[in-house]
Amino acid sequence: MQTLVVVGLQWGDEGKGKVIDYLSEHFDIVVRFQGGSNAGHTVVVGDQTYKFRVLPSGMIRGKIGVIGNGVVIDPEVIIREIDALQASGHAVRLIVSDRAHITTPFHIQLDSIQEDSRGDMQVGTTRRGIGPTYSDKASRVGVRVCDFKSEILTVRWKGMQENAETRIRAVGKQTSPTDSETGSSLVRYQQLMDQLSQYVGDCGDFLCSAIESGERVLFEGAQGTLLDIDHGTYPYVTSSNCVAAAASTGTGVPITLLDTVLGVGKAYSTRVGAGPFPTELKDQTGIMIQQRGGEIGTVTGRPRRCGWLDLVALRYATRLNGASILAITKLDVLTDIDPLRVCIAYEMNGTEIRNVPADAHAYSQVVPVYEELPGWVLPPGQTWRELASKGYDNLPSNLREYLSFIERETRARTALISLGPDRAETCIIERVLGI
Ligand code: IMP
Ligand code: MG
Repeated sequence: MQTLVVVGLQWGDEGKGKVIDYLSEHFDIVVRFQGGSNAGHTVVVGDQTYKFRVLPSGMIRGKIGVIGNGVVIDPEVIIREIDALQASGHAVRLIVSDRAHITTPFHIQLDSIQEDSRGDMQVGTTRRGIGPTYSDKASRVGVRVCDFKSEILTVRWKGMQENAETRIRAVGKQTSPTDSETGSSLVRYQQLMDQLSQYVGDCGDFLCSAIESGERVLFEGAQGTLLDIDHGTYPYVTSSNCVAAAASTGTGVPITLLDTVLGVGKAYSTRVGAGPFPTELKDQTGIMIQQRGGEIGTVTGRPRRCGWLDLVALRYATRLNGASILAITKLDVLTDIDPLRVCIAYEMNGTEIRNVPADAHAYSQVVPVYEELPGWVLPPGQTWRELASKGYDNLPSNLREYLSFIERETRARTALISLGPDRAETCIIERVLGI
């Protein structure tokens, strides 16, 4: 395996940051291909916790980072992350795609204004300007990294700004709060982009040459499959494609060069923001999972909604991504819960279905059909760290049965098991992972 795409199989926050950090030691280059600073990837190394929003998390391991054309870039956030990495003694080797779109203060304002105007139909966005930036991209008024080298930057910036103002007026705001800032925000963004200019390059060209010369590339997905703009629970989704195919469109690397897809799934489900969530637990068990799992949004600080594992959704996501291998995370959080429930089908209008309906409204009304599985305990005097180091065969048998159940339903094989935030709390099944 020379190239590997890692994607989230649920609603984000599956533990991709940790999994990617673990795997990145086997790769030379780590790549982000979609999303923007709505992402929050947490990596714990010893007593240090790193939180990445735009930079690929594998960069803490000294790998070359690439930000693909499919990413939307908030230059302030990326510069802050570069500075923080350097301040902690890391060399920063980075390519930022010249084709990536820029998130500006106008987009950030618009995100909030649009959310507020949705009333009880709010998506619960991270308010980082993601939706408006992707809208501008699709409307062909966006400003890209390469525009900062262009003679017509001012024209493009003005076009983007006028478009934003029209949309602000459309939601009933009388005056645009950005009018007086027009000139100054462009000057500030020119300064920020000057600081980034040493990293700017043609990311597709760079990656294809690197792959041709034998370098190993890890593609790092953000958000999750059920937040995908096409395949997720629309309109309660993010504005990019989060599925593995986006690793190609979001970088300029042809699909034929993508070898394997690893899907990351949490042992239970969480969702931050609004939208259907059939297995959501609004009881004491849900609160316990939320607290034990530290289920608080990395970017927004909102508590995440928690629920049982949804195998209908996981099966759908595994198929969409073509994930042949899985990483299952946070199994430790479910310790001592007995029995455990997993959703294997939904009941919709009196019929049992085994797929995810397209209509989010209909989806919000399905009733999960559960199967109960026996829970597990941590053997007395042992820690998950010790158990992880002894390998898969020494894990509690009910935990292994839980994993086998997931494998049968998804027809993918478990390659990595995470039993805690630390690197040492990871169990690798080498024969499946194949690296
Ligand atoms: P946006 O991406 O900020 O537009 O938010 C759209 C939806 O995706 C909201 O429900 C967010 O909570 C959710 N979302 C966006 N990024 C992430 C993430 O990295 N993890 C989990 N949820 C996310
Ligand atoms: Mg996150």
